Amino acid sequence: MTDASRPITVADYERLARERVEPGAWDYQSGGSGDERSLADNVAAWDRLSLRPRVLVDVASRDTSASAFGVALEHPIIVAPTAVHRLSHPDAERASARGAAAASALFTLSTISSVPMEEVATTSGGPRWFQLYAPSDREACRALVERAAASGYSAVAVTVDLPLPGNRERDRRNEFAVDLGVHLPPDQPVDPHTGLVVMPTMDWADLAWLRSVCPIPLLAKGILRADDAVRAVDVGCDGIWVSNHGGRQLDTAVAGIDALPEVVAAVGDRALLVVDGGVRRGIDVLKGLALGADLVAVGRPVLWGLAVDGADGVQRVLEILRDELSLAMALTGSRSLSEITGDLIV
Ligand code: GLV
Repeated sequence: MTDASRPITVADYERLARERVEPGAWDYQSGGSGDERSLADNVAAWDRLSLRPRVLVDVASRDTSASAFGVALEHPIIVAPTAVHRLSHPDAERASARGAAAASALFTLSTISSVPMEEVATTSGGPRWFQLYAPSDREACRALVERAAASGYSAVAVTVDLPLPGNRERDRRNEFAVDLGVHLPPDQPVDPHTGLVVMPTMDWADLAWLRSVCPIPLLAKGILRADDAVRAVDVGCDGIWVSNHGGRQLDTAVAGIDALPEVVAAVGDRALLVVDGGVRRGIDVLKGLALGADLVAVGRPVLWGLAVDGADGVQRVLEILRDELSLAMALTGSRSLSEITGDLIV
């Protein structure tokens, strides 16, 4: 028996999720800032890139394996941090982390999560990173990274592009404020409109301090310029996460995939490179790898899978992307990630 309504693409999951998520929460998750130019461009940027496939390569066997700070991964598609998964499913991050583990995808837990990091660690057991919104209180900040290390998170991705939340007009119209999640101290300053944490004083000295107290590898998340990437690596960051925060911070900021080449040229092999923003297809993942990323992260698609079918939906969304990547490798004559090279892009 066939079921034509069965979701087979990430876009199918988006359509189905929209029917299930409460409208204010949907706008919070799917919206961007200002006129949402970056939000739209994040998707369009991948489509501007055309491929130059190689032919007549024996691609019967393809190896998607990758690694992150010495942790072996079956493929390079990882889960980007997104806030309060309870908005999508009652099992929240327990389900999303389980789904990611079932799809062998590294899961990044947001500081603003509905479930404590220790519980996520025990329910999923898969490879995982912790995203840090650095609390202004340094002892609270240190405690968070120590907890992450103690509960088996293998890296911290500190968000550096949010001195203040972007101009989230959908949320302002809806009067939607996100909750602080379970990790931040109750006296952490927040933005009165969005409920999001504010960190207007965070600077390079804070990043250097964080590097000095963080017991595990540290990525700077939200870098869009070569000079910032170099500076982050110079203060000791182990990874650079090239991102415009899903188009939710500075509107008209360049898409991550468009910023990636200058970051690759500037820091090359000195850091693990992650790119995100608007990834909807395994072909997008291949393009990110071709332009020099080590890992490619997806945010909203994971929430769509979660809303539609809990852990199973998350697993399926990630497997769709992984299978599409594997097919794109076959059709570009790439037998391993190292063969996904820049010459594949026009
Ligand atoms: C949280 O990180 C958000 O961008 O809303």
